[in-house]
Amino acid sequence: MTTRGVRKRLDFNRAVEREVLRECVATALQAPSGSNQWALQFVIVTDPEIRAEFGELYRRCYERYRGFDGAYIGSIDKGSEELNRQQHRTTVSADYLGAHMGQAPVLVAACAVGRAEDGPAFAKTSLLGSVLPGMWQFMLAARLRGLGTAWTTISLMEEERTGEILRIPVDEVTVGAITPVAYTIGTEFKPARRPDPDDVIHWNGW
Ligand SMILES: Cc1cc2nc3c(=O)[nH]c(=O)nc-3n(C[C@H](O)[C@H](O)[C@H](O)COP(=O)(O)O)c2cc1C
Repeated sequence: MTTRGVRKRLDFNRAVEREVLRECVATALQAPSGSNQWALQFVIVTDPEIRAEFGELYRRCYERYRGFDGAYIGSIDKGSEELNRQQHRTTVSADYLGAHMGQAPVLVAACAVGRAEDGPAFAKTSLLGSVLPGMWQFMLAARLRGLGTAWTTISLMEEERTGEILRIPVDEVTVGAITPVAYTIGTEFKPARRPDPDDVIHWNGW
């Protein structure tokens, strides 16, 4: 309930121990995987030059994303003043990461071996579905250890460049999400406002 996308409260000045990251990966690997094939792989970047280069790419892609009316987080009308205030707070947070991604002490890319763009829905959902639950489990494990994360995909607007910078062969590997990882400034986070369960459940059919 309290694992939020953390951006403004990432402590850029504190290193994250490799052993702690290993523990988070161990938790991630308990997630489900299609045909029990263990496709999930992690690229964990601590090198300052690679992080800075990725930060520049993220900044450039974020600037493009800001122009996508209806998709940019700050262009979405949630329909009430209260919800729009929450949306605005998240926008300020996302904009901040747009400018500071490269300062996070660690970047983690969750990947799967394989590509499925030309395959049937079954192949696509199986491939991505073998990565995304593990990444979320990584993030929950990180939260338990005082670390903050923020799910991002924006740099994948330039997938090839993402692969070049992070040294990932994206012609044969699918990147599911990339997160900054850092200790959080303070550890208290609150549940976010979300729809009522009854508004999203379709009992016995859509
Ligand atoms: C598929 C997906 C892509 C996302 N991409 C980005 C991103 O590129 N940059 C970013 O700052 N947040 C990104 N987010 C995080 C969302 O903005 C965040 O989950 C949402 O605003 C809810 O905030 P909360 O998780 O703190 O409640 C992404 C989330 C998902 C699920």
